[in-house]
Amino acid sequence: MAKKRIGILTGGGDCPGLNAVIRGVTKTAIHKYGLEVIGFYDGFLGLIENRFIILNNENVSGILTHGGTILGTSNKANPFEHIVVENGETVTKDVSNETMELYKDLGLDALIAVGGDGTMTISGMLSQKGANVVGVPKTIDKDLMETDTTFGFDTARSIATEAIDRLHTTAQSHHRVMLVEVMGRNAGWLALESGIAGGGDIILLPEIPYDIEEIIRVVRQRSRFGKRFSIIVVAEGARPEGGDQVIKKMVKDSPEKVRLGGIGYHLANQIENDTQIECRVAILGHLQRGGTPTALDRILATQFAVKAMELVVNNQFNQMVALKGNDITAVPFDKVMGRQKLVPKDSDLIEVALAVGTNLGQKLD
Ligand code: F6P
Repeated sequence: MAKKRIGILTGGGDCPGLNAVIRGVTKTAIHKYGLEVIGFYDGFLGLIENRFIILNNENVSGILTHGGTILGTSNKANPFEHIVVENGETVTKDVSNETMELYKDLGLDALIAVGGDGTMTISGMLSQKGANVVGVPKTIDKDLMETDTTFGFDTARSIATEAIDRLHTTAQSHHRVMLVEVMGRNAGWLALESGIAGGGDIILLPEIPYDIEEIIRVVRQRSRFGKRFSIIVVAEGARPEGGDQVIKKMVKDSPEKVRLGGIGYHLANQIENDTQIECRVAILGHLQRGGTPTALDRILATQFAVKAMELVVNNQFNQMVALKGNDITAVPFDKVMGRQKLVPKDSDLIEVALAVGTNLGQKLD
């Protein structure tokens, strides 16, 4: 009987820990189960275009500590909406049937798709067409449903926390307001958790629209009676009550077209104009996605990889591996597809932030 063949791809935005999953899957497949692994380049694009590499001990050796993904990724590739240029025009085509043909021709017994909500949605759709897919959740945003966390988040949270720590000393020296803008899309996890860890005075989340008057009141009060400086941690997706998010750019050929960014500058102008206190802005951007993963992310990524392989050999497909409490488990794709996990208003972390006197941009009743 031919050796079983497993495919792996990394889709969506990169994050630290992807290489740890590639290594974990490859080593477990080879050592524990005696299977063959191929890695598709650039997410689903490699699967559509038949571009892959055979993964072995040599080419996954030494990558555990490396950020990014050795396979490359794409946050635009989608077999159901493949972007092609026809007669000089960009059009999208459903090439999922051709992709399924290739999946069969390559002799794949299973596909492990490592990614965020977009990747899980495509994985679920390919499963419905007969592919044996197992998902592995990644994102620095921690906004995937049905898992307590995703790998990549801990590293991004550490980077953001260190940035807040560093900005404290310069804010303090100049008696300034320092705004730190962090990523997270529509979810405030990264802002909330790095804000608590870094002792932000004001933390603004997409889930809690802010009142600019309240922010100005807190900044003024701190400037007159407090430590004379303020640190505001603002999520890129934060917005004022009754107002809109700040859009940095639209990426027209991406399934997720809106790229957020710039709320930090918008707020800084408003605060400076009103209070005459000098403001400075640091937008952390993609720094939060780069570099070596933390120990926690390396461990979680490896646990997810081993669990994904266990599901594959037990023929338990159409599922995403997940962390629930201390358990590494699995959930069906349809519980994850097209959904986002936002910070609930009654989150324990919100209570914790309020308890230590952090302002969340809203007047307390
Ligand atoms: O989803 C991860 C993320 O880094 C978000 O936090 C951010 O809004 C977005 O991706 C940025 O996307 P891009 O890498 O396409 O600029």
